Amino acid sequence: MQFNVALLGGDGIGPEVLAQSVKCLQAVEETFGHKFEFTKAAIGADAIKKHGVPFPEETYNACKNADAILFGAIGAPEFDNDPNVKIWPEQGLLQLRKGFDLFTNIRPVKIFPALIKQSPLKKEVLQGTDLVIYRELAGGIYFGEKTTNKENTFATDICSYSEKEISRVAHLAFKAAKKRRKKLTLVDKANVLETSRLWRKVVTNVSESYPEIAFDCLYIDNAAVQMILNPKQFDVILTSNMFGDILSDQGSVLAGSIGLLPSASVGIGKAMFEPIHGSYPEAKGKNIANPVASILSTAMFLEHFGLIEESNAVVSAVLKSFTKKIVTPDILGSSKYGTDYVGDFIAENIVDVDDNPNMNDENIGLGKSTII
Ligand code: IPM
Ligand code: MN
Repeated sequence: MQFNVALLGGDGIGPEVLAQSVKCLQAVEETFGHKFEFTKAAIGADAIKKHGVPFPEETYNACKNADAILFGAIGAPEFDNDPNVKIWPEQGLLQLRKGFDLFTNIRPVKIFPALIKQSPLKKEVLQGTDLVIYRELAGGIYFGEKTTNKENTFATDICSYSEKEISRVAHLAFKAAKKRRKKLTLVDKANVLETSRLWRKVVTNVSESYPEIAFDCLYIDNAAVQMILNPKQFDVILTSNMFGDILSDQGSVLAGSIGLLPSASVGIGKAMFEPIHGSYPEAKGKNIANPVASILSTAMFLEHFGLIEESNAVVSAVLKSFTKKIVTPDILGSSKYGTDYVGDFIAENIVDVDDNPNMNDENIGLGKSTII
């Protein structure tokens, strides 16, 4: 198959980790005979420097003409500490998500057996954890009206949701639960927020179309605790934009490093694949950033387009890097391997799984339980 892929490296470590994903896709090309046509475009602080805006029109067009978007990371410290700036990098990512109506962000949280010691949590707590967060991505407090008064002593961010915005992501989450362990937990704050009360009403209605799914609701504060105390109780978590942002970062603690977790952002047409981590500006150019989250996002891209064997081959190569301890220092403090080396290793080990008698290809698909 032939794919046009927009590469939006963005800021900080984004371009470095994305370069490793490109290597992996080139290995997939060689092994499986597909063709990936890459178009690079600027976003975030990089785009502000080059074009004066965080999501320039030519980047929009590159994405529009692409079958899929691979995204690196966004954010730069020079903008973080200046509350007076009117334009800042993260707006670019939000415009991109909104621009293509990428309303669902899928964030699987996996425990990799070879890395179980990485997590500060006990092995007994982690074992058996396999959950996925369905985060609403194009609405809520991220996109509601924002105001500040003249003196800049008062500000508001409106959180709004419509029935339609809730039900469309809910249907995707229930469909995912059908293919998994058939459990869905809605995480909200319905004891305080009107929007959460609407979420409960709409999702409860949607749940009636999926009688085979065990559906329950949990307040966000309790969910945060439960995720650490007993993460294996969760299968699919459905939640709003900001709760999903926070809960998925917390989920990365289960896996052992935020540098490990991928995501897919989907809507009606376009799809984008991005690590859940930020731009980690302190590590920029040092060749220490973990490329795995970006590479696993690429595996999600392949899976999204039905290239299951190809996706499994990428995941297998990542798992091999873990067992061979070819990992970056966030995983193993004493590791001498950098971003590039780990990327090369993974790309070189992308082989046709069926042709490799030494490879255990059971349960390696991202959509299945890879775990323990
Ligand atoms: C993420 C990030 C973004 C978000 C930021 C960079 C705007 O934290 O993708 O989780 O909050 O959605
Ligand atoms: Mn985040």
